[in-house]
Amino acid sequence: MTVPLPEPPPLPPGARKTARGDVVLVCDDPGDLATRTADYLATLLTRAITRHGRAVAALAGGGTPGPTYAELARYDLDWERIELLLTDERLVRAVHPDSNHRMIRRHLGPVPRIWPMVPTDAAKPLDAPALAQNYAERIAALTPRRHHGIPVLDFALLGLGRDGHFASLFPGSPALDESRALVVPAPGPAATGTGSPDRDRLTLTLPLLNASDARVFLVAGAEKAAVVAAALAAEPSLPVTRLRKGAVPCIWFLDAVTRGSENDFSECSRRDS
Ligand code: 6PG
Repeated sequence: MTVPLPEPPPLPPGARKTARGDVVLVCDDPGDLATRTADYLATLLTRAITRHGRAVAALAGGGTPGPTYAELARYDLDWERIELLLTDERLVRAVHPDSNHRMIRRHLGPVPRIWPMVPTDAAKPLDAPALAQNYAERIAALTPRRHHGIPVLDFALLGLGRDGHFASLFPGSPALDESRALVVPAPGPAATGTGSPDRDRLTLTLPLLNASDARVFLVAGAEKAAVVAAALAAEPSLPVTRLRKGAVPCIWFLDAVTRGSENDFSECSRRDS
């Protein structure tokens, strides 16, 4: 059976390509960043529904993407054909302030179907390995397409921590070395000051994220400028450098303070846009 080729997504209008093949879009301010990221995600969701009859995508937690989700909620999308997953979750109930599911639901509103990693029913135990296995089965059931046997998400929206982590794949985490499972339990940040709560988690793994049709990073704030520059320079020690580039570049939505003044971009050729 021939393996279907990755389906590189259309590039966001105005995006430029770095010498290393990343695609970068620098936005003027946080409002512009939220609007343009939401518009691109809506484009990817609509494209997936048109091509495959449904869209399956994973959304980041943390503090940055809330305004983007609020903007996305305003789109008149065919939500009945959209399955939204989490890229990771802190091991807390959905009512807890640290819950990524709670943050996403609060900004996206009641309509979209968002599959929680952690059950809302307080009677059910927080058994991380069992929850990881259940979520992996859920992803496989929701996602019709496969690449070398791995479910293909239409996109994964990812944040970036100051230590270069994404999802809950922190520097030195054993979860970074997972080569088969789609979802695993993961420890929280080993270092302090990452800005991410020190809690045990569940996270999507590199095999699943590397098989996605699009990996879209949404990063804002001057405190991220150094790690973004290191990520775009493919600093080997960063977890984010473990994301395969290849036929499917990582797409970076940044605000101006995050990207700084350097302009080591080549213009995306017309063919790319
Ligand atoms: C989490 C997030 C995490 C986040 C980064 C960036 O559970 O902590 O999924 O991967 O995306 O830590 O977080 P901020 O957007 O808050 O900087």
